[in-house]
Amino acid sequence: MVRSVIKGLGSYVPPKVVTNDDLAGLMDTSHEWILTRTGIEERHFAEEGVYCSDLALEASRRAIADAGITAGDVDFIILATLSPDHHFPGTGCGLQDKLEIPPVACLDVRNQCTGFLYSLTVGDALVRTGAYQNVLVVGAEVHSSGLDFTNQGRDVAVLFGDGAGAVVLSPSPDPDRGLLYSKLYAEGKHAKALCANVWDISRKPYLTKEDLDQRRHFPSMDGKTVFKHAVTRLVETVKNTLETQGISREDIKYVIPHQANMRINQIVADRLGWPREMFLHNMQRYGNTTAASIPLLLDETYRNGMISKGDLLLVIAFGAGFTWGSALYRW
Ligand code: ACO
Repeated sequence: MVRSVIKGLGSYVPPKVVTNDDLAGLMDTSHEWILTRTGIEERHFAEEGVYCSDLALEASRRAIADAGITAGDVDFIILATLSPDHHFPGTGCGLQDKLEIPPVACLDVRNQCTGFLYSLTVGDALVRTGAYQNVLVVGAEVHSSGLDFTNQGRDVAVLFGDGAGAVVLSPSPDPDRGLLYSKLYAEGKHAKALCANVWDISRKPYLTKEDLDQRRHFPSMDGKTVFKHAVTRLVETVKNTLETQGISREDIKYVIPHQANMRINQIVADRLGWPREMFLHNMQRYGNTTAASIPLLLDETYRNGMISKGDLLLVIAFGAGFTWGSALYRW
C-alpha cells in the first residue's frame, strides 16, 4: 500500500511586521479589542510589488531544500490561495515559472481557509496513483492589498496577515505513516457570510467604477455567523474523525487547527473536553493567513522540535464557502 508522506516543509513571511497598535493608527480599533477577541498581536504585510507567487516561491524553495530534492524534481504543483496574483491565469503557473523548472502540471485551489487541507487531499490522491513522485503543495496569501483599513472595514482588516507555507508530498511504502485520512466538506448556502463581491460575472461588464465606489472589492463578513458555524463544524468534524477512524483523544499528539481566531479554537477544545494546549497556535504573530496558516504552523512546530516520528497530528480547518474538513497525519 502506498501512502503519501511529507518529505519536506518550508514557510515564509514577508519581513514587515504590523502590530495592533499600528492598525489603531489607521482606524478606530485598539490592541485590547483585537487581542481579546482574536488572540492576534501582530501580522506580516508584503510590500507593494510583492505577489502571492513570490511568497509561495520562498516557502517552496525551503520545502524543496528540506526534502533534499531539487526544484526540477517537482512533478506537480498545487497552490491554494484566495489572493491570487491575477484573476487569471492561475498563480500555480506563476510559481512554476519562478521556480525555473520545466513544464509540470499546475493546479490552483480556491477553497480559502480550507484550501491547504483540500490541496493536501488532492496531492495525496495524486501520489497514491503512482503517477507523481514529488507534489509541491503550497498555501500562500497576500491579504494586505485587499483589506479596507478604514473604520468601515475594521472588523475584517484586523484579522488577516500575509505569508506562505509549503510541503513536498512523496510516496512511501509504509502503510502506518503519512496522510492516513482526510474528509472534506462544503456548504455553499452560507457563501454570502464571508466573501468579496468584486467579481460578478453575471453583470456586463462584471466590474464597474460603481463597484469600486461602493467598496465591493473589499471582503464582507458576518463575523458572528462565521464564528458560530466554525465552532459547530469543527467540533462535529473532530468527533466524526475519531469515531470513523476508531481512535481517541489520547492517540493524538497535537491538533493543528486553521489560525482564524484563538477563541474559536479554544471553544472547540472546551466543547470536546480536550486540553486547550493540544491546539497549537501561532496566529499571535501572523494573524489569519488563510491557505498558508496550516503549513506555516506545521513548519514552525516541526522546526521547534515538537514533532517526533510516530506522532499523530489532527489537522482541522473551516473557512469561507463555507468549507471545512479534517485530516490525520502520522509523522
Ligand atoms: N476594533 C474595534 N471595534 C470593532 C472592530 C475593530 N477592529 N471591528 C468591529 N468592531 C465593533 C463593531 O462595530 C461592533 O460595534 P457595535 O457593537 O457598536 O455595533 C462591535 O465591535 C462588535 O463587537 P463584538 O460583538 O464583541 O464582536 P465579536 O465578538 O463578534 O467579534 C469578530 C468580532 C472578532 C470579527 C468575531 O465575530 C470573529 O472572530 N468572527 C469569526 C471571524 C473569522 O474567524 N473569520 C475568518 C474565518 S474564515 C477564514 O479564515 C476565511
